[in-house]
Formats: sequence, structure tokens, C-alpha cells
Amino acid sequence: MIIRAALESDVERLAQIWFDGWRDGHLAIVPAALARLRTLESFRERLHKALPDVRVAVEAEAPIGFAIFKGDELYQFYVAAGARGTGVAAALMDDAEQQLSARGVTTAWLACAIGNDRAARFYEKRGWQRTATVTYQAETSEGPFPINNWRYEKALR
Ligand SMILES: CC(C)(COP(=O)(O)OP(=O)(O)OC[C@H]1O[C@@H](n2cnc3c(N)ncnc32)[C@H](O)[C@@H]1OP(=O)(O)O)[C@@H](O)C(=O)NCCC(=O)NCCS
Repeated sequence: MIIRAALESDVERLAQIWFDGWRDGHLAIVPAALARLRTLESFRERLHKALPDVRVAVEAEAPIGFAIFKGDELYQFYVAAGARGTGVAAALMDDAEQQLSARGVTTAWLACAIGNDRAARFYEKRGWQRTATVTYQAETSEGPFPINNWRYEKALR
């Protein structure tokens, strides 16, 4: 497994990982009005836009996970279902923290949907601390969608 910058040719596979992973982590716990906006096409568009800020975990030349940065925010973090529980997420997180640190970030933060317990457990295992419950403006094709989230922070070395 290697971790590298994303390529335009990764977008299709990454959009599918994002779409499937979003549903696994969020469908049961967020408002239906938000779920309706989380289409495969919406993830494809957001990936194209964010491409310089995307890191990809690749196994046998196929993307199996990705991280996206936005300023000091670890903005998205997804691992394909078949690669969960294997250590891929930990390696991708180490890389993400190094990338953020190299960009000058000293304390990174992320938003996690309230009730996404697997993700929360993972972040806490990796040394992230839950600091607050915040109203997060989720990005959608129809503008910001406010949703209460857990905020996590980590000081980077
Ligand atoms: C979040 C994600 C990247 C973590 O990667 P992962 O490979 O699943 O992480 P790990 O298996 O190392 O750690 C998950 C932990 O949660 C535990 N867990 C699994 N299901 C759980 C649940 N329903 N409730 C609480 N903990 C749970 C696992 O047992 C493991 O803990 P352990 O190592 O102490 O046993 C991955 O699950 C994922 O992509 N999920 C879907 C997308 C998503 O929600 N992304 C985050 C958006 S904020």
C-alpha cells in the first residue's frame, strides 16, 4: 500500500468510496434532507475541485481510501469498506497529519457526525480529542447545510 497525491484518474473510484462510506457512516444519523444531496455526482464534483488537497491510499494500483484538507481542517477521511480494520486508516491518518504539519498547521481539527461511533473511536485511538459539539456548515450543492457535529482537535508535532 502506498499513499500519494490524488490524480484526475482517481476521481471516479474515490467518488464511489466517498458515496458508499458516507452512507455507511451517516445515512442512519443525519437528516434525510442532507442525505438527498449526497449523490455520487456531488462527490465527483467536490473531488475535482479539491484535487490538489487530496491524498490517496492505493493498493495494487487501486485507490482504497482518501483524505482531503481544507486549511487547518482534516476535511474528509474515508476508507473503503474492504480495507477497514486493516491499518490502512492509521497509515492514511499518519500521512494526513504529516501533510497538515508540512503546510504549517500546528493544531488540526475535524468534524465528525454525532453518532458516527466507529469514526469517533478511530479518531480517539489516533490521539484526537473531542473538544466540543458545534454547528457545522456542511458543504452541499445547495449551499451550507447546518448540522450539529462533534469537533475533534489534535496538536501536530
Ligand atoms: C472512519 C474510518 C476511516 C476508520 O477506519 P477503520 O479502518 O474502520 O478504523 P479501525 O478499524 O482502525 O478503528 C475503528 C474502531 O472502531 C471500533 N468500532 C467498530 N464499529 C463500531 C461501532 N459501531 N461503535 C463503536 N466503535 C466501533 C472498531 O472495533 C475499532 O476499534 P478497536 O481497534 O478498538 O477495536 C472508516 O471506518 C470509514 O471510512 N468509515 C466510513 C466513512 C466515515 O465515517 N468517515 C469519517 C467521517 S467523519
